[in-house]
Amino acid sequence: MRHHFTIVKHVRCSRANVIANYLDLEHMPAHSGLMACRVMSETGQAACFEITSKVGPLKIRNVHYYEFRPPNQIFHAVESPLGPMYVLSTVEEFGSGTPDVRSEVTVETTLDLPRLLFPARALVERLLRRLNRTVHVEDCAILERRQRLFGDDVSDYLRDEQPLLFKDRFRESVERGGGLPRALEVR
Ligand SMILES: [Fe+2]
Repeated sequence: MRHHFTIVKHVRCSRANVIANYLDLEHMPAHSGLMACRVMSETGQAACFEITSKVGPLKIRNVHYYEFRPPNQIFHAVESPLGPMYVLSTVEEFGSGTPDVRSEVTVETTLDLPRLLFPARALVERLLRRLNRTVHVEDCAILERRQRLFGDDVSDYLRDEQPLLFKDRFRESVERGGGLPRALEVR
């Protein structure tokens, strides 16, 4: 039985920085509770990866499906312990090209709960919102520092040696929408 809810988050950085953070699996262990991440397969804009997280004394492994929908959406599906979960994140940028650039991230979550758990959906939603807040605070620390140091420039993510999901698709997207220094822009 499906339960749907929406979370809106704000961060003081560009859209390109927010999307790059989603695609940068290398930073996952920087989040509390996440231990490791291993890509199992990847195509142009879809990937499967395994995340190991720590819940109390337990190590839990989940397989995640991830899709980049340029220019501004990430679709994420996971077989959670509560049932299948589908998350669509959409990033909108405001104040583009100014020192006041910021982004709004709308996260739409659908949980396919077993009938037995459905009456507890409000509690499950509360727990997921809390988890989301923790991850958001940790990401904001990274993103707002990056924005202060490098501005809108995300070209470091595009280096050959940098592991980033869907790098070619992301490059095309930032070439169209900003996020590269002027010298690297396609004319
Ligand atoms: Fe993150």
